[in-house]
Amino acid sequence: MTVISKDIDLAAKILQANEVIAIPTETVYGLAANIYSEDAIKKIYSLKNRPHSNPLIVHVGSINKAEELVESFPEKAKLLAQRFWPGPLTLILQKSPKVPNWITAHKQYVAIRIPHHQKTQELLQKIAFPLAAPSANPFMRISPTSANHCYNYFNEKIELILDGGACKRGIESTIISFHDSFPTILRLGSISIEEIKSEIGEITVHNNIKDEIIAPGMHNKHYSPNTNLILVDDVSPALIASLKAEKIGVLTFNKLISHQKIIKCLRLTKTLNLKEAAKNLYSFLHQLDNINTDIIIAEKVPLSGIGVTINDRLFRASQK
Ligand code: TXA
Ligand code: MG
Repeated sequence: MTVISKDIDLAAKILQANEVIAIPTETVYGLAANIYSEDAIKKIYSLKNRPHSNPLIVHVGSINKAEELVESFPEKAKLLAQRFWPGPLTLILQKSPKVPNWITAHKQYVAIRIPHHQKTQELLQKIAFPLAAPSANPFMRISPTSANHCYNYFNEKIELILDGGACKRGIESTIISFHDSFPTILRLGSISIEEIKSEIGEITVHNNIKDEIIAPGMHNKHYSPNTNLILVDDVSPALIASLKAEKIGVLTFNKLISHQKIIKCLRLTKTLNLKEAAKNLYSFLHQLDNINTDIIIAEKVPLSGIGVTINDRLFRASQK
């Protein structure tokens, strides 16, 4: 039986026994375990059905703890850490020998972040080890932004889901690598490209939709609902009428449309607010995936700030 609970002591106890639990963060829920337990880490990979070549993010409670796990902390990485931690930023830095190879898929670089969620911060203070935590979804599926989403994926398979409510950001952390001390955005995330630039100046964005895939988990097909999803510039009743499908789910940025074929239409924001749209994105995709439709039609959002990240996720969700 999987328990959904707010009990931090219980969560710490299960982690100390080298078991896997789900934890809340401000971005999405994670499947967490002690980085020093090879057995526990193997369980994460098998629960997620994730290839072993795909490394895990290490979650720590303070910048000091992060520094202990790396060989060097380049100046620009420090600026970013000071500005955005705790928060939805992951830094990939040269690892110290302390970090086990089973976390990094034998790479010499480790991904680290300090999550901004009170429950998980308290949990990290109670335990003596960092937590590896990939998003708590099976490989390729939509990330979870509530305890219930985790329950639907892993009921009976994990002992505990630490309940921290709905995730405030709703989209994964922005990942910046510092290979040879040179910063590159490897995954668009909850912190926009503009926010990063305002801290450290120009930065390369490795757009791995077109470029070679260098973050191993950044496949084009990712974040996918079971239902077929089509991404369009503009959803209109005329477009809906032209489709063969009879039962349609619709996800828009701001407008509501109706048509006899639309089973459900959800709008990401009522106030044209991109942050609200990001917070709702996965939760609404879960909702639309769980009703019985032939197809989901999603509409692109405005291409500024976090809107760039939302469109990136919608694009991946639309890949077959
Ligand atoms: O917001 C987040 O980052 C969430 C929460 C739970 O913290 N975590 C998350 O983890 O999104 P995951 O495993 O679903 O995605 C992490 C991505 C993967 O694409 C992985 O390949 C990449 O980060 N990654 C992790 N360690 C890496 C490394 N050492 N080098 C290159 N890429 C790495
Ligand atoms: Mg993930």
